[in-house]
Amino acid sequence: MHRRLIAPGALAASLLLAIPASAADFTPGAPGIGDPYYPASGNGGYDVSHYDLRLKYQPKTDLLEGTATINATTTQALSRFNLDLGLKVSEVRVNGKKAAFKKSGEQELEITPAAGLPKGTPITVVVRYAGKPSEVKINGFTAWARTPDGGVAAQEPESAAWWYPSNDHPLDKATYDVSVSVPDGSQAISNGVLQSQSSKLGWTRFNWRSNKPQASYLTTLAVGKFDITTDKTADGLPVLNAYSKDLGDNAGAARASIERSTEVAEWLEGVFGKYPFNALGGYVPNVTSGFALETQTRPFYSPRQFANGSNVSVVVHELAHQWYGDSVSVDGWKDIWINEGFARYSQWLWSEKEGEGTAQELADYVYAQHPADDPFWKVKPGDPGPENQFDIAVYDRGALALQALRNEIGEKSFSAILKGWPKEHAYGNAKVSDFVKYAEKVSGKPLASLFDAWLFQPSRPDAPAARGAGI
Ligand code: ARG
Ligand code: ZN
Repeated sequence: MHRRLIAPGALAASLLLAIPASAADFTPGAPGIGDPYYPASGNGGYDVSHYDLRLKYQPKTDLLEGTATINATTTQALSRFNLDLGLKVSEVRVNGKKAAFKKSGEQELEITPAAGLPKGTPITVVVRYAGKPSEVKINGFTAWARTPDGGVAAQEPESAAWWYPSNDHPLDKATYDVSVSVPDGSQAISNGVLQSQSSKLGWTRFNWRSNKPQASYLTTLAVGKFDITTDKTADGLPVLNAYSKDLGDNAGAARASIERSTEVAEWLEGVFGKYPFNALGGYVPNVTSGFALETQTRPFYSPRQFANGSNVSVVVHELAHQWYGDSVSVDGWKDIWINEGFARYSQWLWSEKEGEGTAQELADYVYAQHPADDPFWKVKPGDPGPENQFDIAVYDRGALALQALRNEIGEKSFSAILKGWPKEHAYGNAKVSDFVKYAEKVSGKPLASLFDAWLFQPSRPDAPAARGAGI
């Protein structure tokens, strides 16, 4: 950043007279936060602490409209700054005053406040906007899935720009109040605790609160007609699950899986330590896609995951992410293994506990499925590239790496690491290299070559043989 140099002679004067800031001191915030996988994601120059979204959605027309109020603090002296948003903006205010704004590219909203913003200033940004999210294309794609009775925002690595303005990168996490008004008879589902709901003039408003830092892509909205179940955990956390009324034959299996979230979370607490958030649950909208997503406190599941009957394993995966991915988030998207490797491994641990095959047996099975010349081994889970970010190798080879670690350091250190890591970086961000250092510290063993072979080489390592198995 530009720093004014003070000539020695001017020093005495500068101590007496505040030097007025000149326009040259204020520079534009970067249009990206600096993630090489996704250069347009996020922005520079400020740090968001809270989003307050007050929206209205009409399923018939797909029109979403409302106001986002963003509390942030500048991290540099800003002449202007960007938010990430694809919808159409009608007004922007910064600290109460109208600000100039323009769209730049598909996802950048460039905001120029009436005057420069000094570094370290708390700012409140109000953005009024509207549009049809299903028609907003960023990189040729919409993350808003329109359903027969509503719509859903749930995607990774990005979903926010289709429904609210943000600093769209996990490095800038914030708390959220999401208030959405929908026609009576429909529901709006989001993260955290449903603070209240009320109806007037034919519209019902749902007020959701997520009171722990949350990454923008983990903030979700689903509108539609849902059956809702509520409960409390043994610790008193509110549990809320929502099932589209339109799940057909998958409805029973979806419930038979997701209603076990409390049991799964309790078991995961034994593996990973205390559950990090203020609410628990899951939701299944009537989408046609086939993936699930660890949206914070309330994972998104697709009906297809329950096509063969109950699937508690996917619940284990998404709830494991609450510790590994949501509370401890990637520093950059290249660090995806610290999410997916552990979420997959937790499924192996669940299988082990259920008597359906130990993690070692599953590791042997997965390893045997991929001969040395399988392209599976070309993907480096520790830095897979954006095109392979969700490749099966990030998950399965990623979990094999953890089995190799477990065998190398033994049960005691391994479980200490699984519990210690989410505590060490709770509500923060971390890199793969931070994990390697942490595992070395806890186990007292050098592990660089083990992790290098499993996470960073484009070739098949030796099998993660059980201790003493002597392969
Ligand atoms: N984190 C998600 C999971 O493992 C993956 C989402 C991948 N995104 C996608 N569009 N397939 O549960
Ligand atoms: Zn996952």
